[in-house]
Amino acid sequence: MKQLSNRRILLGVTGGIAAYKSAELIRRLKDHGADVSVVMTAAAMEFITPLTLQALSGNPVHTTLLDPEAEAGMGHIELARWADLILIAPASADFMARLANGRGDDLLTTLCLATAAPIALAPAMNQGMWRDPATQANAATLTARNIALFGPAAGEQACGDVGPGRMLEAEELAALAASIFNTRLLDGVHLTITAGPTREAIDPVRYISNHSSGKMGYALAAAAADAGAIVTLISGPTNLACPERVTRLDVISAQDMFDATMATLGSCQLFIGCAAVADYRPVNVAEQKIKKNNDTMHIDLVRNPDIVSTVAHRKPRPVTIGFAAETQDLIRYARGKLERKNLDLIIANDVSNTAIGFNASDNAVTAIWKDGECNIQQMGKHQLASELVRLIAQQFFPAKS
Ligand code: PMT
Repeated sequence: MKQLSNRRILLGVTGGIAAYKSAELIRRLKDHGADVSVVMTAAAMEFITPLTLQALSGNPVHTTLLDPEAEAGMGHIELARWADLILIAPASADFMARLANGRGDDLLTTLCLATAAPIALAPAMNQGMWRDPATQANAATLTARNIALFGPAAGEQACGDVGPGRMLEAEELAALAASIFNTRLLDGVHLTITAGPTREAIDPVRYISNHSSGKMGYALAAAAADAGAIVTLISGPTNLACPERVTRLDVISAQDMFDATMATLGSCQLFIGCAAVADYRPVNVAEQKIKKNNDTMHIDLVRNPDIVSTVAHRKPRPVTIGFAAETQDLIRYARGKLERKNLDLIIANDVSNTAIGFNASDNAVTAIWKDGECNIQQMGKHQLASELVRLIAQQFFPAKS
């Protein structure tokens, strides 16, 4: 099973003899389905070349903080947002000290300061350096800040010493990286989620639709499956692959999506309406392609059923969560939908900003519920989905979180 499908891992490589193992680690992470981008410190490049890691990762390797070319494209803030996880392997004693002290004097430390993604370190150093009280104090500081330490293992070292300080093997590190996402926060919860656009036929060759790519809904489906949920994804037409451990039902129109949703409600404990459902459909669908006989054309439209609102007004009903895609007055309109549609939580999404929302890789949202709200800053949709799953679990399934 590909446990890191769709996950974007930023692999930091620092200076140490174990840097040669980073090459194997990239291959194992990719075997597990991850997209890997590499950042190397100056010391790391003394041990292994950027070219090797670029060839294995299939992505450019980033090495400098103030690279004008990188700033134009993947600058440090973009990279910090891109990552779903920053994994630093090997992490040298010097790097741990700089991170523990909050330094931001190279690309990798800066990324660690800027990111909202989880950070994990695979320490690798001489046993005496690992045992030194300064390194141990730095390790404790980092752990207290929720930075995960993978290893080190004990054994024979490159310098001939025997003891703790060996970097874990690549396969172990890949499995530990996957475990960061497998939270069990929604263990056994039956989730139905809608995603993507709907298409409302005008004639056999034309339809009304919108710009939804399905990325947000698919990311949520994947994050919920990682958290142990039993996920049914009801998807409008998209180009995306179905996430691992998710059952996908493909639909075209809003009415199809409505029917498919209602059919899952028997066991559903959590419903998330992330699809951009067409509010209206043509009253009549022409049997043949409509000919352009006139300068103007008139299509009568009729309201589609509101899926999320129908689910939320049923008794009994699952925990029901909607999205609000707005181009103005975001919070006011979202609050209105929360109330009118009888939702437990609404996720307000500013779709006037092309860097987030429809078809973008990033999103930034405000989650609003009856007596609270929470802003989630701009980040990749997969990482944002993990944040939303955490919030949903805390609010509605506390026994599991
Ligand atoms: O797919 P991406 O490209 O990643 O973009 C993500 C997104 C912008 C589509 C997503 O984040 C989002 O905001 N989805 C909701 C889009 C939408 O239709 O919003 P709305 O404000 O029009 O609808 C409010 C809620 O009612 C939504 O939960 C929607 O799914 C639901 N609805 C709307 C109409 C309808 N007939 N039935 C519904 O269930």
